[in-house]
Amino acid sequence: VSFAPESNASEEDAARQLLHWRYRDGPAPEGPWNEVIATILGHRSVRAFLPDRLPDGTLERLVAAASSASTSSNLQTWSVVAVEDQERKDRLAELGSRQKHISECPLYLVWCVDHSRLHLAAQERQMVLGGLDFLEPYIVGVVDATLAAQNAAIVLESLGLGFVYIGGMRNHPEEVAATLGLPQHVMALFGMCVGYPDPDKPADIKPRLPMAAVLHREQYSPAAHVATVAAYDACLVEFQREQGMRETPWTELATNRVRDAAALNGRDRIRTALETLGFPIR
Ligand SMILES: Cc1cc2nc3c(=O)[nH]c(=O)nc-3n(C[C@H](O)[C@H](O)[C@H](O)COP(=O)(O)O)c2cc1C
Repeated sequence: VSFAPESNASEEDAARQLLHWRYRDGPAPEGPWNEVIATILGHRSVRAFLPDRLPDGTLERLVAAASSASTSSNLQTWSVVAVEDQERKDRLAELGSRQKHISECPLYLVWCVDHSRLHLAAQERQMVLGGLDFLEPYIVGVVDATLAAQNAAIVLESLGLGFVYIGGMRNHPEEVAATLGLPQHVMALFGMCVGYPDPDKPADIKPRLPMAAVLHREQYSPAAHVATVAAYDACLVEFQREQGMRETPWTELATNRVRDAAALNGRDRIRTALETLGFPIR
């Protein structure tokens, strides 16, 4: 199976191929098409990288793209730490379930919720901030950091670079904060391994839930679940078979991932960690 549109494919054929890999046998709806959509639909997580460094200026372009994302009330409650030092990457890999791609990628980005600038601005103004200790401003930071990171992600893929997000940064939030020298009111939300994909270990497009499962018109229709999820179970098993992976239906994988507190890999204590890091969420 080749997961890149053939180079001589017409735009329409390329669209159909990418939509096919994304949804397999599901309907491939007609609609507008351009290079941005092609880049986004061609996404696949990359976990095997060449050691080559990124060209000069790439990191700064990524951050400019990240900063261009919408941000709640223009608060910009996020920061990113760029890590290239091998020892620091190794330590972060250890803290993130020993995932080797963290050590092996040439650039590791850690996207953070950052309330520290608001606290500093308040200090300068001799204000007591009462509004940051609630769940809502924490959600604002999570949304801001995520939108920023995803903008960078799209730029990476548009440049032929690859990445994989790393939720494992929340397994040991205090140790990650110490490793990155994060001040109070800053928390690592997720990491991102970045680099040139290793052509000898290509990553493929993983099919997603049928559109009918996630797109509701006017009102939510719970019936969509019954109609679509069984088909997706079969579709994902087909993908796993092609990849030589263990064949497990999506419903089994997904429910096991949140089966109990132990399945959260230490993240069941995130509330306590947040308190320590300066997010006393009420
Ligand atoms: C917030 C977030 C955290 C993730 N954490 C990890 C991780 O720790 N390790 C990993 O290998 N993949 C991680 N992933 C990648 C997902 O497993 C991947 O996006 C998903 O299986 C879909 O595959 P695809 O991205 O190739 O389409 C993460 C993705 C997101 C969005």
